[in-house]
Amino acid sequence: MWNVFENLKQATFPIYLGVDIGTTSIKAVEVKQGEKLPELLNYGMLELGGYLLRANNALQTSTLKIFEEEVAELLKVLMAKMKLRAKEVVASIPAFAAFTTVLDFPAMTPEELKKTIAFQAKEYIPQPLSEVAIDWLKVGEFEDKGYKHDQILIISVPREQIKRYQRLFGMAGLTLRALEIESLSLARILTMGDPTPTIIADIGSRSTSIAFAARGELRYVGQSDFAGASLTQALAQGLNINPLRAEELKRERGIAQAGQSYELSTIMLPFLDAIINEVKKAQFNYGNQFPGAPQPERVILTGGGANLAGITGYMEKELGFPVVKSMPFMRFEHSAELEPMVGEVGPMLAVAMGLTMREFV
Ligand SMILES: Nc1ncnc2c1ncn2[C@@H]1O[C@H](COP(=O)(O)OP(=O)(O)OP(=O)(O)O)[C@@H](O)[C@H]1O
Ligand SMILES: [Mg+2]
Repeated sequence: MWNVFENLKQATFPIYLGVDIGTTSIKAVEVKQGEKLPELLNYGMLELGGYLLRANNALQTSTLKIFEEEVAELLKVLMAKMKLRAKEVVASIPAFAAFTTVLDFPAMTPEELKKTIAFQAKEYIPQPLSEVAIDWLKVGEFEDKGYKHDQILIISVPREQIKRYQRLFGMAGLTLRALEIESLSLARILTMGDPTPTIIADIGSRSTSIAFAARGELRYVGQSDFAGASLTQALAQGLNINPLRAEELKRERGIAQAGQSYELSTIMLPFLDAIINEVKKAQFNYGNQFPGAPQPERVILTGGGANLAGITGYMEKELGFPVVKSMPFMRFEHSAELEPMVGEVGPMLAVAMGLTMREFV
C-alpha cells in the first residue's frame, strides 16, 4: 500500500547511517529522528570468525593496514542484509589509528589557536604535517601566575587513512560524510548530559580503548593491546584447545571466583588484570595531566568484552569504584521486539550509535 504519511516522514527526517569497522567485525545502524529521541530503525553486525584461526586476518591492525577490498565486500553483504536506505555514512576510526595528545596553550581566540597549533604541531606530531589531518578540542583550563591557559586535545589522523575510508565506502556505493575517532562517539553516547567523571573502557577484540569523559566531552584517550582476543588465546593455549572452542567457552562461562568455572577463570584473569592495570595507568596519567580535575567516579564498560559474564563485579572489586555495562539503547527509541537483546547488543553497537548521534546534538 502506498503510504503517503510514511513518505512524508522520511522526507522530513533524513536517515543517518553510522558504521563502526572494528578489528574483527563491522557494525552498522540506521537512525532517524523519532518522536522525542533519535529512533533506531535498523542495525546489523558482521563478525569475522576466521580471525581466531589466522592471526593476521584482522580488518584493522595497529599498523593502520586495512584490507579495503575485503572490508568493502563485507560492507556490501551487510548493506544487502540490512536493506540500507541511507547513502551517506558517518564512520569511526579506532583510537589506535589516530595520534592524540593534550597540550597547554595560553588562552586565545579560536583563530589564534588554529595558527598556533599549525605552527607548533610539528614538534608534537610524529608524522610530517602534510600527511596528517589535524583536529582539536578544548578539554580543560587552568590559571598559572595570573595567566589563563587552555588544555587542548589534539587529534591527528593520517590523510591516507581518511582516503582509505573514502575509497572503501565508495566501493560499497556510500559517500563518507564524516569520520571521527571512536572515543568521541562513545563519550557522546555514554556521557552526554551527565556530569559524572567517567572512564569508558571499550574492550574490543584486538584492543581496548580507555577514554575519560563527562557531559559528552572527551578529555583523554588511552589504549591497550590487551582485549577480548587475549582472553580467548589464553584459554586456547592453557587448555590446549581450538581457538573457536575457546571463544565459545569464554562466552558460555565467563569468569567466576568459585565453582565449576573457577579453573577457566584462573587462566583468563591475568589478562583481565592487564586491562585493569591499563585503566589504572590511564587514571595516573590523567591525574598528572589534569591535576585539579575531578577524579573518575565510575567505569562504563563497552565493546563485546563488556559481555564477559562476571566482568563488572570483578573490575569493581579491583578498582574500588562502580563499574557498569554501557546501555546505549537508553538514548534511542526502538521497537519493543528488540528489548530482550539490548543488554547484550548495546555494548557492541555503542560506537555506531554514538556516530549517528552527532547529527542530533
Ligand atoms: N558474551 C561474551 N563474553 C565474552 N566476550 C565476548 C562476548 N561477546 C563478545 N565478546 C568478545 O568481544 C570481542 C569483540 O568485541 P567488539 O565487537 O567490540 O570488537 P571489535 O570492535 O571488532 O574490535 P576492536 O574494538 O578491537 O577493533 C571479542 O573478543 C569477543 O570474544
Ligand atoms: Mg570496537
